[in-house]
Amino acid sequence: ICRTIADLKEKLHTLRSGGKSVGFVPTMGYLHEGHASLLRKARERDDVVVLSIFVNPMQFGPGEDLDRYPRNEERDLALAESCGCDLVFLPVQEEMYPSRPLTSVKISGLTERLCGASRPGHFDGVGLVVGKLFNLVSPTRAYFGMKDAQQVAVIKTMTADLNFDVEIVTGEIVREPDGLALSSRNVYLSPVQREQAVVLSRSLREAKEMCMKPGMTSGGLIKAVREAINGAQDAVIDYVELLLYPSLEPVPEDQPLNELRETFIVALAVKFGTTRLIDNALFDHT
Ligand code: PAJ
Repeated sequence: ICRTIADLKEKLHTLRSGGKSVGFVPTMGYLHEGHASLLRKARERDDVVVLSIFVNPMQFGPGEDLDRYPRNEERDLALAESCGCDLVFLPVQEEMYPSRPLTSVKISGLTERLCGASRPGHFDGVGLVVGKLFNLVSPTRAYFGMKDAQQVAVIKTMTADLNFDVEIVTGEIVREPDGLALSSRNVYLSPVQREQAVVLSRSLREAKEMCMKPGMTSGGLIKAVREAINGAQDAVIDYVELLLYPSLEPVPEDQPLNELRETFIVALAVKFGTTRLIDNALFDHT
């Protein structure tokens, strides 16, 4: 465990000696099986596995849940250990941001839709912290979950644009038995909201079945997903969008989906009370 940058660098220097590969899993903590799956993937491929736990204030907007973001260091460390993690970097805010950063990382285009549109500045904050962490850890590979598919597209683009010498590896979405995608934010849900939240993954599963129906268009599929979600009493849709992936370019509403020979994504964000959940499904029609 290290809490300072100096300590991280010293420990990493020893661990990676002899040219060992370093797998890095950045997180904001309150770890669950989604995070664990990335740690295990890293454990399989890399000699040294590094986890970071840092609730990055720069990626939260005013009025978002920065102050109440769930934390449980003890449990996180136990899970990290059980996944064979070698080093955990747990900086306090002042370590990562000794002063307000004057440098910004803006990944344009890709961040103008989906969560980028609903959470202005969010991906600038993600780009900044991930860039800093890449420089601090110098990983061989970094692991990101497809739960945050837009984040994956953004990080891959930033990595290419800024020539970070790291391979971005993605992990599948890990779900509860009823389909709800695991998220640190699921603990905010009341029992009634938790029950209703299965509508997200259910609507995406139905979308998978519907998309090959002759005549089904992009607009038709979005409409069907919206209707399914609105069937849950407390669900308030932030967005439901169908876009090409990973370019996140729009698909015309009247586009018949069985004629679209591309990979596209149906991504959604839905609020239950003050809790905002996201989920997505990829459709590989290439
Ligand atoms: P956080 O939400 O803690 O997620 C850390 C990593 O775990 C991300 O790559 C995310 O996609 C992945 N993850 C979360 N839930 C998952 C699930 N159900 N299945 C598979 N993977 C899942 O994403 C962040 O933190 C931050 O933005 C961060 C990249 C750390 C920058 O601050």
